[in-house]
Amino acid sequence: MPKRICVTGASGLAGRAVVADLLEHGYEVLATDVVPPSPQLPARWSRPDLTYTQADLTDYGDAFEVIAGVDAVAHLAAIPAPSIFTPARTLNVNNAVNSNVFLAAAQAGVERVVWASSETTLGLDFGPGNLPWYLPLDEDHYPRPTSTYSLSKVLGESMAEHVSAWSGIPFVALRFSNVIDPARYGEFPAFEEAPESRLFNAFGYIDVRDAASSVRLGLEAEVTGARSYVIANRDTVMSRSTAALIEEFFPGVEVRRELGEHESLFSTERAHVELGFEPRHGWRDA
Ligand SMILES: NC(=O)c1ccc[n+]([C@@H]2O[C@H](COP(=O)([O-])OP(=O)(O)OC[C@H]3O[C@@H](n4cnc5c(N)ncnc54)[C@H](O)[C@@H]3O)[C@@H](O)[C@H]2O)c1
Repeated sequence: MPKRICVTGASGLAGRAVVADLLEHGYEVLATDVVPPSPQLPARWSRPDLTYTQADLTDYGDAFEVIAGVDAVAHLAAIPAPSIFTPARTLNVNNAVNSNVFLAAAQAGVERVVWASSETTLGLDFGPGNLPWYLPLDEDHYPRPTSTYSLSKVLGESMAEHVSAWSGIPFVALRFSNVIDPARYGEFPAFEEAPESRLFNAFGYIDVRDAASSVRLGLEAEVTGARSYVIANRDTVMSRSTAALIEEFFPGVEVRRELGEHESLFSTERAHVELGFEPRHGWRDA
């Protein structure tokens, strides 16, 4: 029997890729979102392994309804950035969505929750007045929220830790870097002329297809308790070298190991070792 996975935020950028990746790998998917299914999803009536339910996860009843009966949850639904809504709304909506999904997962007794945390928990936005403590950024460069969005992710990770301890369910938090659709790679060479535009997240990114595979690996890996993982590509978005970026934008910041020519300022070592994560798509190949 293929495993049934509830994918929340399934109409969104990452959610669509997660649904496609899970279907491709033989899972059954119950896709859910507060907005109707994206036209980019396979038509649900055309395949028996995909169903769609519209649900507002700020409502506990909706959350329990979509989660009861699945084997595991891939939770991507959220207000996905600061400055879309007011700071308080971002915090309150994301907290409600996360607590409802986590508690419903515990009540339903699912096997696993994999969910989208964020690179913002590591201290973004970086700039001259907000330098990293050290480089490369790893899971221990935490917690450093600077917005109610990143605070909602830090609180989510804290909730996950406790709900996991109460329920025994493993919770896998994926601290995604900026999720990029490959259709946007044409914009990348222009960053060289305006590096300040990518300073906020230390020039990182994650291809949406690799973000999706990290969710699947999070569902499959041997993990106990609540674990968090930085998920980023292995290179930066910039043409100039990583050493040149550090010299210009992060002067005086401790660099803890030697970095390759274009190596990312995010370390994904933990995800590589514990989840088997290996990014396969990058803008330099596009
Ligand atoms: N996009 C990025 O660069 C990025 C980076 C780090 C982390 N993340 C996280 O990854 C996840 C997915 O982000 P995305 O870029 O795909 O965003 P997105 O906005 O494309 O998708 C999020 C989806 O969540 C749904 N949603 C919002 N509120 C809901 C509610 N109350 N009930 C049900 N569904 C609701 C939205 O309708 C949307 O389809 C989010 O949790 C986001 O915080 C994104």
